Amino acid sequence: MTDQNGRPSEERLPAPRPSSAAAPAERLSAPPSAHRTDLTPERAARIVRQSANARLVGFLAVTLVGLFVIGYYFYELGIPGLGTKPRLEAAAEEQQVIAVERGYNLYQANCAQCHGVNGEGGKGPVLNRQDKLFAHLSPDFLRNMLTVGGRYACGNATSIMPVWSNQGNPAGPLNYKQIDYLIAFLRASKEDTYRVMNADLWEPIVDEATGEEQTFTGWVDPAYEPEPGATPYPACWADEFNTAPATPAPSAGASSSPVESQAPAGATVDVAALNVAFDKAELTVPADTKFTINFDNQDAGIPHNVAIKDANGALVFTGDIINGPAKISYTVDPLAAGDYQFVCTVHPNMIGTLKVGS
Ligand code: HEC
Repeated sequence: MTDQNGRPSEERLPAPRPSSAAAPAERLSAPPSAHRTDLTPERAARIVRQSANARLVGFLAVTLVGLFVIGYYFYELGIPGLGTKPRLEAAAEEQQVIAVERGYNLYQANCAQCHGVNGEGGKGPVLNRQDKLFAHLSPDFLRNMLTVGGRYACGNATSIMPVWSNQGNPAGPLNYKQIDYLIAFLRASKEDTYRVMNADLWEPIVDEATGEEQTFTGWVDPAYEPEPGATPYPACWADEFNTAPATPAPSAGASSSPVESQAPAGATVDVAALNVAFDKAELTVPADTKFTINFDNQDAGIPHNVAIKDANGALVFTGDIINGPAKISYTVDPLAAGDYQFVCTVHPNMIGTLKVGS
């Protein structure tokens, strides 16, 4: 390696290289193509492809989001022209249906005994009449009625209609949700059909005979309009009957004057009202003579009377309404022979046959 033997190795000069020896290789031995600073055609082509892919992915992502936004818009608001409902409206309707179906069960369990299965009335006043539903039985009135109890209607402190809301005083058995359900049921539309549900399992009740689900409809006729000039329904339902003599019976034979009532007449029949029913299904009186009806209302706190309708359903006699327990004698002017009907004006479901014979 050196020709300066004898000197410390760090002071020695390198030995001259014999000219025949091959020059050492360059330290960086990679081929020149590796030192390029520009792109190979392949690499450039790949970059172009990659960025095209990236743009395509971006485009697809934006399209997807855009379609989602449009789709969601129609999902929320409904597709115009296809009659689909906005989502919230549909959900609210479903809620409403459930409320009505729950209210139906509550009504049948708690109210039907007094107001009738279909609201036709009984111990309590009729609830399903359109003129009452139109203006009188508003949600607010119903809520007050159920919170305050029977005295809310006419101020009758001994009314048999109890307080229903647990917010009432004294507190009733139903909570505010159940009151809402009841009101939803009482205000449900006649045009909608609802299912009768099993209250515990919340499954439709199937009619065993037909295999079909039992259904019911609401009471309110949305198309109902009171006759023009009709007097609005009174705030107290009983006033409807107190003013009854003001609408005279169409027949000339009618007599409801209390003065005449006292005059004794030829024949006398007795009839009593108990538990919102007449105790007799049939009464017989002679034709063409005055007769007396001794009416005994034994229903405490419930107003009744006796009215007589002819075969065509026209009122020929309307007796004064008395609050039970009480008695009254009605004198009825002579009637032609035939079959008539005697009813209680307050409770149209109290019906009997009046046979006027010769
Ligand atoms: C024990 C019989 C009874 C029961 C049960 C009953 N009610 Fe009543 N309800 C009455 C009587 C009686 C009245 C008349 C109030 C008065 O003036 O005394 C009345 C009045 C009403 C009125 C007002 C009617 C009008 O024309 O102003 C509404 C509404 C009503 N009840 C709803 C209900 C509902 C809803 C239920 C069931 C949660 C119910 N009632 C249960 C007896 C009853």
